[in-house]
Amino acid sequence: MNDVMSLSQRADALEAKMARELDYIVIKSRIYQMADGDTGPGPSMAELRKQKPNGKVLMGDDPRLPKMPEKPTLMDFFKYRFGPSMHLLQSARHAVKGGLPEKMVLACLLHDISTAGFIRGDHGYWGAQLVEPYVDPEVTWAIRAHQVLRFYPDESVGYEYPQSYITSFGEEYRPDQYIQDDYKRMRDHKWYMSGRMITVHDIYSFDPNVHVELEEFEDVIGRNFKQPEEGLGFDNSPVAHMWRAMIRPAKYL
Ligand SMILES: [Fe+2]
Ligand SMILES: [Fe+2]
Repeated sequence: MNDVMSLSQRADALEAKMARELDYIVIKSRIYQMADGDTGPGPSMAELRKQKPNGKVLMGDDPRLPKMPEKPTLMDFFKYRFGPSMHLLQSARHAVKGGLPEKMVLACLLHDISTAGFIRGDHGYWGAQLVEPYVDPEVTWAIRAHQVLRFYPDESVGYEYPQSYITSFGEEYRPDQYIQDDYKRMRDHKWYMSGRMITVHDIYSFDPNVHVELEEFEDVIGRNFKQPEEGLGFDNSPVAHMWRAMIRPAKYL
């Protein structure tokens, strides 16, 4: 009998060994499972234990993700969590070119951080909440409002209902009732035009050849975003846990 393993047997054995040795077990939050259309029972711990007898669930940093500094700044989230973010950077540059005040440039830079790093649906509401303790109230208001105002044209500033929405949502699509209600509240608000300006600079047909560096906005962030000394996620603010969820999205408890 030949007791030398074939190459593929050896590869399989090595893979099995590595899987056993991995010292962590990833259990995703329920919301990821539901996003896959699955409301069945969660993963079986007993089953996962069998595969990784020495495995521990993730209670610290996720080794699959870039390590974040101990006291993460907004810039760190852009670098290590938000991905390329070209849409946000181009929107912010567009806002600079359009002569918007600095705090509104910041609003354009941050308007979609929830889609970039957290949750898509209602991203304007989530995004506004994420930044609320650190920015001017008008910035928070405008980020929340862009979620709603995106659906409504405003001829006075040349804003049309986005063609891409017709393609993506269909001709028949109408915003949910709570969006319609918020629109009625927002259109008469003193900061309406600030929210509207985000939609004007929220460019969807951005140029793939235009590269914008985050560093271009370092000073704008420095002057308009009150970076907590302890780091985002560790400053005991009402939203600190939301930033921590982006630092460790698969934390077990
Ligand atoms: Fe948005
Ligand atoms: Fe956007």
